[in-house]
Amino acid sequence: MCPAVSQGFFLTFEGLDGAGKSTQLRKLAEWLEAEGESIVLTRQPGGTRIGDRIRALLLDSRTENLAPRAELGLMFSDRAQAIAEIIEPALAKGRIVLCDRYTDSTEAYQGGGRELGSKIVVDLHAAMCGGLQPDLTLLLLPDFARSLERARRRNTRAAGHPIDENRFEKEDELFYRRVFDKYCEIARREPLRVVVIDGDQSVEQIHQRIVQVVKQRLKDRA
Ligand code: TYD
Repeated sequence: MCPAVSQGFFLTFEGLDGAGKSTQLRKLAEWLEAEGESIVLTRQPGGTRIGDRIRALLLDSRTENLAPRAELGLMFSDRAQAIAEIIEPALAKGRIVLCDRYTDSTEAYQGGGRELGSKIVVDLHAAMCGGLQPDLTLLLLPDFARSLERARRRNTRAAGHPIDENRFEKEDELFYRRVFDKYCEIARREPLRVVVIDGDQSVEQIHQRIVQVVKQRLKDRA
């Protein structure tokens, strides 16, 4: 990466649907702000005006017959837009970017879940994201059965909600098993970047563990 970009700190959150990522992201953002850090919070898909339109298409369960490769391309189009509009400018200003999901999600969901494999994802990441990698990725991984149960509960609660974002939550257990396994594979492959957080503890315990990891990494950066 160019030197200007490396001044900031790029942190991503990953995990299965219903892993409690959003709660932890919010708590970490509050903690960082209280520490006086300048942060930018974003998510994928979405986060930009164009990205929000891509998100609606991708997550609405009325979107039918979307080919896996088309889905993959849309995830990367969304990401390329977010990098250009949000992530690179913020990193260049030395800010901390907290992003809810990034390319590991694509590798887990499209590479694993949709069985497109890792190679196409890694290749597209190089081509469309200039290989921009997070400095740190927190992978929240509750036990598989619990993740699935939480995702289902959320799915039921979301029924009847005006914004339908359930397309992925309608997938079956085998799909989620492949996503879970791919996340484990990524964590084994990149142990320095990806820190696995045991998602089976209380919200506060998970938060404390996350703070401990982030504190250390920010100290190393300084
Ligand atoms: P969202 O509601 O933002 O996430 P969460 O379930 O973590 O609250 O939904 C995003 C969905 O999109 C989620 O099911 C994972 C999926 N997704 C992919 O399949 N590939 C990707 O590259 C990304 C970023 C998300």
